[in-house]
Amino acid sequence: MLKGVILAGGLGTRLYPSTKNISKHLLQVGNEPMVFHSIKQLTFSGIKDILIVTNPAHIDDFKDVVGTGSQLCCKISYQIQQDAKGIAHALALAEDFAKRERIVVLLGDNIFESTIQTYIDDYNKQKHGARVVVKKVIDPERYGVANIKENKIISIEEKPENPHSSYAVIGLYFYDSEVFDIIRTIKPSSRGELEITSVNNVYIKQGKLEYSFLQGEWVDAGTHESLAIAHEMLLNRKE
Ligand code: DAU
Repeated sequence: MLKGVILAGGLGTRLYPSTKNISKHLLQVGNEPMVFHSIKQLTFSGIKDILIVTNPAHIDDFKDVVGTGSQLCCKISYQIQQDAKGIAHALALAEDFAKRERIVVLLGDNIFESTIQTYIDDYNKQKHGARVVVKKVIDPERYGVANIKENKIISIEEKPENPHSSYAVIGLYFYDSEVFDIIRTIKPSSRGELEITSVNNVYIKQGKLEYSFLQGEWVDAGTHESLAIAHEMLLNRKE
């Protein structure tokens, strides 16, 4: 059984001043705080052992709002990321939790119209390596962008000025236990962060990165505009 990791640290600066004294992941999206969406995505897919990584300023709020997870029928553990040094840096903190089991990683600001069960099933069928999920978008320069040749991802570029394709790599990743050794080998990017894209590029070099196409709508709710879109999407969603 996969274990779940929700990355909910970072500074949320694109949502300032709304996120000056509250985590982006506790802002309301649809009927609930944003993090409930990620937790429910995991629990609906049968994943009940979940780690939330967040920053020191917000950990107590998470514990107040989400608690042990018992109200959501799961077991929630927490890790603190002292500084927002990147998504891969936050993921490294999940090593003890993972205990060499395979993991599904959700970026806490990624909101999905539909269940993620299909991609979990895809990864459960995959024998080794990692898996990402891609979606055609009109603004690829905002994301990690997959360069796909002959049905294989040959590289991923983080927020390229001139994207090779329109396929965004979304914030839903699947990893085997090798991921933590890989994170130890990568270097910070020019913006000073340990990028998840660098991790995925190592899996590509090793020939161990598979991918799925995302069906249905998806929003990275990291800006005021996209947060409003995510809110509408969840309010209008048919359960
Ligand atoms: O939404 C998908 C995109 O997410 C991907 O296409 C990109 O490849 C990936 O880098 C990421 O880009 P963003 O610029 O949207 O990442 P952001 O800094 O907004 O962080 C996304 C989530 O990760 C955020 O909700 C909290 C968490 N995070 C982020 C950082 C930088 C942490 O937990 N710790 C961190 O240090």
